[in-house]
Amino acid sequence: MKIITTVNELRAHLAHFKRPAFVPTMGNLHDGHLALVRQAKPLGDVLVASIFVNRLQFLPHEDFDTYPRTWAADCQALADAGCDVLFAPSESELYPQPQGYKVQPPVALADLLEGHFRPGFFIGVCTVVMKLFACVQPRVAVFGQKDYQQLMVIKGMVQQFALPIEVVAGRTLRAADGLALSSRNNYLSATERAEAVHLSGTLQQMAQALKNGSSDIAALEQQALDSLTKRGWQPDYLVVRRRLDLQPPSASEVADLVQQQGLVVLGAARLGATRLIDNLEV
Ligand code: PAF
Repeated sequence: MKIITTVNELRAHLAHFKRPAFVPTMGNLHDGHLALVRQAKPLGDVLVASIFVNRLQFLPHEDFDTYPRTWAADCQALADAGCDVLFAPSESELYPQPQGYKVQPPVALADLLEGHFRPGFFIGVCTVVMKLFACVQPRVAVFGQKDYQQLMVIKGMVQQFALPIEVVAGRTLRAADGLALSSRNNYLSATERAEAVHLSGTLQQMAQALKNGSSDIAALEQQALDSLTKRGWQPDYLVVRRRLDLQPPSASEVADLVQQQGLVVLGAARLGATRLIDNLEV
């Protein structure tokens, strides 16, 4: 695996390839990331991964400074997973001046759910992804479905800017008990780790209730909030949304949408100091 830290060297190296496949990451890699690399590998003629902890997508009180940097283990894991090129620019390489130009995704998609609780998050994500796309110039890029809204926002950005990139959804990898793999799981204490399964468990119950014919979305969401809160969580949201636009379904369309597999349940909740997110398509 070739490690490249500058945009010029990356461009020179990738000039020899026709169809780079790309997996952007912020490092602290787990099996979920490596599954994205394995999924992306056969989709291109060279597999590029990036590691860049993007300051622009962290709020001032969030974990930018303490976000785990696990460079040696990440390099080894990427090489073992078949990564050909690791692009790992410094902050001054990717943002040589303060980044004045930013990508503003549409409010209707980006200011709800994650964007509501983390204002400006998707501006930071879109801006860095646009910049990484400009550096790597991939033909295909894989983004994890665990970050469901992020995947939708990136797909929309690629479509509206007519970028010649196919965005592919990477399936969510789960631990044996159902917890979605995430870099932030490393923050959990042993007790919290045992409790953490209840986020996916609650989403599963919501999904099952919908499949069983429940159409009172407000009651379903309230039950889910109450149940996690009673267990000591601080939920940001536990909601049922349309897959198409992440808007709430009306009561009259719930049954049809369940039939057409058109719904998704999404949740974000804090367990102690750790914020976890997850989702399940229904
Ligand atoms: O999902 C992530 O790890 C980040 O949001 C991404 C896409 C690498 C942009 O910094």
